[in-house]
Amino acid sequence: METTHFATALLRWYEKNGRELPWRNTRDPYAIWLSEVILQQTRVQQGRDYWQRFMQRFPTVESLAAATQDEVLKLWQGLGYYSRARNLHAAARQIVARGGFPTTRDELRSLRGVGDYTSAAVASLAFNEPVAVVDGNVFRVLARYYAIDTPIDTTQGKRHFQALAQELLPPAAAATFNQAIMDFGALVCTPAAPRCDECPVATTCAALRHDAPTRYPVKSRKTAVALRRLCYIYARYDGKAAFRRRPAGDIWQGLWEPLLIEGDTLPPLAGTVTLLRRGVRHVLTHRVLVADFYLLECDDAIPLPAGYRWVDEARIDDLAVPRLVERLLSLVNRE
Ligand code: ADE
Repeated sequence: METTHFATALLRWYEKNGRELPWRNTRDPYAIWLSEVILQQTRVQQGRDYWQRFMQRFPTVESLAAATQDEVLKLWQGLGYYSRARNLHAAARQIVARGGFPTTRDELRSLRGVGDYTSAAVASLAFNEPVAVVDGNVFRVLARYYAIDTPIDTTQGKRHFQALAQELLPPAAAATFNQAIMDFGALVCTPAAPRCDECPVATTCAALRHDAPTRYPVKSRKTAVALRRLCYIYARYDGKAAFRRRPAGDIWQGLWEPLLIEGDTLPPLAGTVTLLRRGVRHVLTHRVLVADFYLLECDDAIPLPAGYRWVDEARIDDLAVPRLVERLLSLVNRE
């Protein structure tokens, strides 16, 4: 396809308005991959800080591969969705084992945790492979511009948008176009209140002409959100606190936590119990957690459930913990 008005206008817009981001000044596939994995978890502002900390600590894929999982999880702490951090670490080891970074989209896709989006992003940004990225921004921008009401959360929808993005991509400017459309979605064609008065393609936008841009993109189903009640008990005895590493098969695998009781009622406990906070909400992708936080001061080393151990309170800040536990820790005086 010839370069369309849409692509030309977006490239021109990007030249003036694109964001200055540190990973845009490099062709290092490791640096770019790392930025893309982080940006799937957070917005650019916060992502930049995480990226800089990762690059400082692990400047090469070899150094990341040589790290322990605990080090990686600790650096990832606060971003959520910890399987991404474990996959990042595992993929770094795959890359070192195969003798270097894959250079094509298909080879990239063979890495742990690297799917359609990440493989397209790294292949285009680091190696200029003419392959279109489709993230939430791209779905939104294209759905609005063409007033497409195919739901984006179906196989057919995904295929349709991937093909359309690929058709629009100017092959010689793959890296620039992919970043342009994502920046444009993040800065102008935003989810709730798009800035149509600043939009360089407003006059040819089908959604704007026919109805409200915010009606797009269309989704077929709402994500079911289940509620899960928890009690976290910070049990302290003689300068130590009871912690365990979370097992496989549930959220937060590999992270650390204090005594956990599922539900909203405490069992009888030996010691002085103080309620620190009730009803703390924490939102995950398919679940909302509601937690009560308690402090339990013990006079004796109470028997702990399997998997827990007493950890020196001075060492707790070294543990990788979920955000929710971080909030509990901020309420406990550990002087
Ligand atoms: N969001 C995720 N990756 C991005 C990129 N490379 N540019 C702009 N926004 C992004």
